[in-house]
Amino acid sequence: MVVRNCREVKVQSVRFLGTWDEASDFVELTLENPGWESYRPGQFAMLRPKHWGLELPWGRPFSISRLDAETLTVFFQVIGRGTSRLARLNPGDEVVVWGPLGNGFSAPPETPTLLLAGGMGIAPFRGYIENHPTPEFLRLFFAHRVPLANYPYLAMAEKVRAEAMQEHTPEDLPRIIERIRELMDENHGGIALACGPTPFMRTIQEHAVAGGLRAELSLEKSMACGVGACLGCVCKNGEGKHVQVCARGPVFQADAVQL
Ligand SMILES: Cc1cc2nc3c(=O)[nH]c(=O)nc-3n(C[C@H](O)[C@H](O)[C@H](O)COP(=O)(O)OP(=O)(O)OC[C@H]3O[C@@H](n4cnc5c(N)ncnc54)[C@H](O)[C@@H]3O)c2cc1C
Ligand code: FES
Repeated sequence: MVVRNCREVKVQSVRFLGTWDEASDFVELTLENPGWESYRPGQFAMLRPKHWGLELPWGRPFSISRLDAETLTVFFQVIGRGTSRLARLNPGDEVVVWGPLGNGFSAPPETPTLLLAGGMGIAPFRGYIENHPTPEFLRLFFAHRVPLANYPYLAMAEKVRAEAMQEHTPEDLPRIIERIRELMDENHGGIALACGPTPFMRTIQEHAVAGGLRAELSLEKSMACGVGACLGCVCKNGEGKHVQVCARGPVFQADAVQL
């Protein structure tokens, strides 16, 4: 298996953001920069702590949330065995990291760009905003279920025009869908970039395809190798052919993938 840029790095910090309840933890994990000079926002990294045994043979994929000269930051929610163990790492623990992987989002300068984030889908947009050549052309919409304090939203909202809507009850959902459609229509002629849960992405895909709007969708699939070697992450493209999300994505044109 060819693994690009595979490095062992040390954990710098593990920070829990505001928590929603005892069962859901939101974690910002900061690692030493694995020697990467740059990345394209929307790309991801595979992480596997060195001390994981055979019971967890595979790494876990995470969007690169931030990269600077010293550090690599990912932001995740604890949902299973891997993430709960990543959340319990300590400064100084060693983690094997490979990446930056995948293709990343387009970042055309001076183009109205609508960032549509659902829940943990906000993670890649932090670095996107920080790296964009003309951030004054960006607009962020964030749909979330748990309180905003669990996400890095407020720091992002200081940098670009932003709005957030919380889904408190199922009745809130139609309002959120309507607002997404309105924002996409207002952004006509620009580009929409989306990351979030599948139903959220379907709303965006359907509206983009129906209206001939330019949109890119970042997909999440369970992954094992992250580099196109195991076929663990396939989805169907626009012609119904299987493609690997890690190698051909995770970002796809809205009309080029089946959700
Ligand atoms: C390109 C990419 C970028 C990602 N970026 C982020 C990120 O920035 N922040 C974040 O919180 N999560 C992100 N994810 C999802 C993250 O990889 C999974 O939450 C994580 O691998 C789960 O590991 P686990 O061992 O805790 O869960 P497991 O014990 O492996 O699984 C627990 C449950 O989650 C499901 N699951 C596992 N992996 C995924 C997945 N990739 N997508 C959807 N459901 C899954 C399983 O089917 C199972 O039901 C990303 C995934 C991909 C493919
Ligand atoms: S995760 Fe192995 S092919 Fe995509």
